[in-house]
Amino acid sequence: MSTLTAEPAAPTEQKLMDQAELTAEARRLKAERRALIIAHLYQRPEIQDLADFVGDSLGLSQQAAATDNDLIVFCGVHFMAESAAILSPQKTVILPEPKAGCPMADMVTPDALREMKAKYPGVPVVAYVNTSAAVKAESDICCTSRNAVKIVEAVEGDTVIFIPDRNLAHYVQTQTRKKVIPWPGFCPTHDRIKVDDLRRMKESHPEAVVLVHPETDQAIVDLADKVFSTEGMRRFVRESPAKEFIIGTEMGILHALQKDRPDASFYFPSGDEQICPNMKSTTLRKLVVALERLEPRVTVPEDIRLRAKRALDRMLAVQ
Ligand code: 13P
Ligand code: SF4
Repeated sequence: MSTLTAEPAAPTEQKLMDQAELTAEARRLKAERRALIIAHLYQRPEIQDLADFVGDSLGLSQQAAATDNDLIVFCGVHFMAESAAILSPQKTVILPEPKAGCPMADMVTPDALREMKAKYPGVPVVAYVNTSAAVKAESDICCTSRNAVKIVEAVEGDTVIFIPDRNLAHYVQTQTRKKVIPWPGFCPTHDRIKVDDLRRMKESHPEAVVLVHPETDQAIVDLADKVFSTEGMRRFVRESPAKEFIIGTEMGILHALQKDRPDASFYFPSGDEQICPNMKSTTLRKLVVALERLEPRVTVPEDIRLRAKRALDRMLAVQ
């Protein structure tokens, strides 16, 4: 018979702490726990400032695969933490806000993918990392927005099924001679960036370089100077002589861009519409509580993990 005991209150719940106290507590716990904190470029500024590594989806997977730390605290969305758990099952992977999902990842299920595969027998499936472990397990290889074209080129055959982002699939199609069969998924945040807003922004800032993410609609990509993953944007901005940039991705990236280029101006055509609520749901307080309690943990059933790992390993081997 099991005994139920009341869960002890975490110190952050016993007293109200301000941002400076929470930051200090997070740093103390991080050192005590020997945790590696990794954060996506869309995370809140205070979370990015605490992280050991900040990057795009590809960089985060590479870090998760390479680290010696036994504890990874993943500040991002669920599929990202899941990838870390797939790659490093012996490590404890914590996602401070367990409800931080990705609506695009939810737009494809293993059953629906199996139906699609049955329609195109033998055609390899390239899965954007924005998918669940169970969907990755049904796929041949993963990709991120940074390496999608390279991965599609590396796969055998002249046709691929590309899931779940129709916009990234379309962008890849413009860069390859292979046939890309898209899935009808999309990112609601990037979808809210409007063509008219971008046109107006370009008129107001004619000198600005327009950088957009390939998750944006085709009409937005057509108006851009460059198409990059988040890390690709950061690298471009660091090295560019330009002083003004129009940014077509989630607003969290502004923090890193401003740090790298305090002399430059950054404009977001659709303003607050360019905020992903899931990415913002991880707060400093939740990070501290997660470090105290060492939960919520992200784990993947072993049979799914092994098949999903094959798809992720294949992607990492192409890098
Ligand atoms: P990247 O960081 O790989 O560019 O992806 C953006 C994204 O939407 C992650 O959810
Ligand atoms: Fe998913 Fe879009 Fe948010 Fe990225 S920005 S986590 S793709 S909903």
